[in-house]
Parts: sequence; C-alpha cells; structure tokens
Amino acid sequence: MDQKQINSQMPEAYRLRAFDVLDSTNKEAIRAAEKGEAANLWITAESQSSGKGRRGREWISSEGNLFCSLLLENKKDALTASQLSFVAALAVYDTAAEILGSAEDIQCKWPNDILVKNQKISGILLESSGFGNNAPEYIIIGIGLNLSSYPKEALYPAVDFKSLGKDTTPKEAIGILAKYMAEYIRLWHKEGFHPIRKKWLKQVKGQGSEIIVKLPSEEIIGCFVDLDLTGALMLQTDTGLRLITAGDVFFPKLATD
Ligand code: BTN
Repeated sequence: MDQKQINSQMPEAYRLRAFDVLDSTNKEAIRAAEKGEAANLWITAESQSSGKGRRGREWISSEGNLFCSLLLENKKDALTASQLSFVAALAVYDTAAEILGSAEDIQCKWPNDILVKNQKISGILLESSGFGNNAPEYIIIGIGLNLSSYPKEALYPAVDFKSLGKDTTPKEAIGILAKYMAEYIRLWHKEGFHPIRKKWLKQVKGQGSEIIVKLPSEEIIGCFVDLDLTGALMLQTDTGLRLITAGDVFFPKLATD
C-alpha cells in the first residue's frame, strides 16, 4: 500500500502506518505503545505471519484481506474500555453495509463478530498495553476483514466480500473502516455505552432465542435475553440467569436450514 496516499484518506487526528508483512498488526501496535508512540495510529499489513484470533486461536492472514489495528490511548477503567469491542463491531457493520451497498443481510454476533448471510466476515481482537492506576494505558483494536478469501475449516462458517460479488481492496476497506471507527469512537466518548449498546442490540442475531455458548470446559444452552451494561451476554438457562463474559456463540440448526 502507498502510505502517503492512504494517510490522506484517514479521518482527522488519525494516522496510518502501512507494512507489507508483519507478524501481527496487534503485536506491532503493542510495540508502538511500548515505544511511547502517539495514539490514534492505524497499522495495516498486507499479510501476517502469526495473526492472532480470539481465545488464543490463529487468524489465517494471506494477502488480499484487510489486517489492521488501531492504537488508542485509554483513560477509562478496564471494564469501560472493553466496551470498545462493541464500538468496533458497529464500525465493521457499517463498513460491510457500505461495501455491500445494503445492510439487509448483516448481523452482529456476540461478542464482536459480524455475520453476512449467517457467515462470519470479520474478526475483532481487543488487547491492552501498559497498566497505570489499575487501568490499561493503551487499547489495541485489531480487525481482520475477509475481502477476497476466508478459512474453509473455521470454527464458525465464514465468507468473504468477493464471494458476495463485491471486489474491494485493503486500501479501500481501511479508508471506510477508519471513517466509521472515528465516528463511533466520538459517539462513545460523547454519550457513553448507551447508544452503542442500543444500536448493537438492534443489529444482533438471536436475541430472545435459544443459543449455545461454548466455553473451554462446558457448553451452555439458554435464551439470549439481553446485553448487560458492561457488555456481558445475559443467558437465561434452566438453572437461572448466567452472565457470560467470554465464549463462542452458536445458533441451533433449524429444521428448515
Ligand atoms: C477473531 O478470532 O475473531 C478475532 C480475529 C482478529 C484478527 C485481526 S487481523 C488484524 C489484527 N492482528 C492480529 O494479529 N489479529 C487481529
């Protein structure tokens, strides 16, 4: 990617550093934070040699997809900062809608996946760096967008924009994503979690229905009731209400599927 050209596409107060190859854009953002670099920095790579997924999984990262991380300075407590995962999900949702030209088939899946036609098109990994006053000094929002390929053997069925008839380059995609991220971050700073939570719930799949949550040691089935004010999933099970803070959500197969 041509760095100068892309930088001109960045929203005001944001910068972009584009790499050909990195181990992981999240790792590079953490290194930048450790060096004391100024925040509001986007990092992109055309490919990653050890892309990180959620819950210690690998994120397959071959050329043609978007791999990026946003380094943000943090002044909130850790729980409040984790709301940025939903901020990022809304930005990816709007990015997908702009690329596809419609939001019709797009849904959010807890905690921060975006589905198109019930298939995962992106991944978001929030990390932090540096701890002062019991709160992280930096938040790193890592985002992978399946533009031209997707893993065939994934935990959750996946898809890419190319298969959906939309050819988009990483350069085009980062410009769109950075624009929506800046908008939703501004909204979150101004009005807090309330509008973010409300919008996310409007766009989520499965609220009010039975879902399956897979944790490393158990599988829980229950009704997805709501999202609490900290971003935890509220699941009504046979044994009572459970608050889920980590895990993978699946939907039961319908007889019509
Ligand atoms: C998931 O497992 O769903 C989250 C995947 C996040 C992948 C992105 S790609 C850019 C950034 N760098 C990484 O190493 N991971 C994130």
